[in-house]
Amino acid sequence: MKVLLCGELGAAEWQAWHAALAQAMPEAQWLALAQARAQPDAVQAAVVANPAPGSLQGLPQLKLVQSLWAGVDRLLADATLPAGVPLARMVDPAMTAAMAETALWAVLSLHRGFFAYARRQREGVWRAHTQRRADEVGVLVLGQGEMGRAAAARIAQQGYRVQGWRRDGGALEPLLARSDVVVNLLPLTPATRNLLDARFFAALPAQASVVNLGRGAHLVDADLLAALDRGHLRHAVLDVFHAEPLPATHPFWRHPRVTLLPHAAALTDPRSAAAVAAANLRAARDGRPLAHLVLTARGY
Ligand code: GLV
Repeated sequence: MKVLLCGELGAAEWQAWHAALAQAMPEAQWLALAQARAQPDAVQAAVVANPAPGSLQGLPQLKLVQSLWAGVDRLLADATLPAGVPLARMVDPAMTAAMAETALWAVLSLHRGFFAYARRQREGVWRAHTQRRADEVGVLVLGQGEMGRAAAARIAQQGYRVQGWRRDGGALEPLLARSDVVVNLLPLTPATRNLLDARFFAALPAQASVVNLGRGAHLVDADLLAALDRGHLRHAVLDVFHAEPLPATHPFWRHPRVTLLPHAAALTDPRSAAAVAAANLRAARDGRPLAHLVLTARGY
């Protein structure tokens, strides 16, 4: 089986993925984009990490496009993505576990005020704040896919009051009213774009916090800054941004109530993800059912 491996990968990253995939599926031949272009009729599948638009055009024998990314919003935005070829999201157990860890770290840090203590240290201020129990803190996890469910379970294990919401799961506002921390792990679709906006923040109780681990486009940046600056929201933890890397002049960089990560809340781990990709490629080759398929109409 000849498989195209391409995307937003530097040479070293391409090599690392190639090594992991070749180990997981030694019987396949792995082609870079230029090699695939030279023999388009031979390419039977593609393993991609946010490929440049147009990369998957003109490959008539494609049976599967396997994403190395969990979120496929950028792939689906490519108008040249071959229609009718199954597209699979990455569901990597190591990535899911890492995301649950990041979500737990953010919730714990917000609950106990550790970000505020970090700020006070920079200011040279010695002052403790009141302490609440975990069961007094309401956490709402948006998104009930692999990562949302894992994060919710991990946070619940620590004693927090956890609720989950999915987009077709009924009214959001009553849940927001009971949430001290909201963790966003929704997929980015036309229905979830800009969900975290002024109305959403206004529905949260005063001094609530927001953790965005989904996509930058879920969030209306100016609305978040306004809610932080008028003191309605306490803090935001952000991993994802409209433009990445986050431009040096963006106010999030230096905002005292924003903690940011460089889209690193959970990385795909080649050691486990290569096996997941290989299992799906073999299923495509052998005509068996494929896992983690994207439904285009649903948007993820
Ligand atoms: C990361 O954001 C991913 O979608 O894998």
